[in-house]
Amino acid sequence: MTVLFIGGSRRKDSLNTKLKHRLAEVADKHGIRYELVDADALDAPIYHGDLEAADGVPEPMKRLGEKIQSASKVVLVSPEYNSSVSPLVKNAIDWVSRLDMGAWSGKTVLLAAASPGGLGGLRAVSHLRDILANVKAWTAPMCASCPNATDEAIAAMDESFLKSFLEQGKD
Ligand code: FNR
Repeated sequence: MTVLFIGGSRRKDSLNTKLKHRLAEVADKHGIRYELVDADALDAPIYHGDLEAADGVPEPMKRLGEKIQSASKVVLVSPEYNSSVSPLVKNAIDWVSRLDMGAWSGKTVLLAAASPGGLGGLRAVSHLRDILANVKAWTAPMCASCPNATDEAIAAMDESFLKSFLEQGKD
């Protein structure tokens, strides 16, 4: 089974994308099979019911739901905007929750965040726990947060900690 790494920022120089790649590097070293999902794959119109009634769930969100459903677990790496989760990530969670397959239900989700701020995106992580509980996902207790994030700080994150982070939940 494959761990799905989902990045939550489409910004070219994204710190969260760098954190996602750092986690993938640790997974590589320890023989953890994974697939990377680019944040561009989360691009979809902002959810509203009329849009869904007219056109159904957008194809990219169906594909994302299928990937989530077949993954052993999901690593979600999200930026923090104004003390909460990025709209890109929230919108993708909302769309995927509309699929009959119940992709999030019972899924193990590991939460990670990087921010130039001193709290390292922990408030976004906290909000994600509530949002994901609502769609019946299980969020693992440890999160991988990089406060005061820079390229160097992300590269220096402790490998054994990141390995333990990735090993949470069932395989
Ligand atoms: C931010 N940022 C931010 N950071 C944080 O730690 N807490 C916050 O509440 C906010 N709020 C916030 C609001 C808005 C509108 C923006 C644009 C930014 C900073 C944010 O964490 C920073 O820009 C990151 O670099 C964004 O993630 P990526 O794109 O680097 O992955």
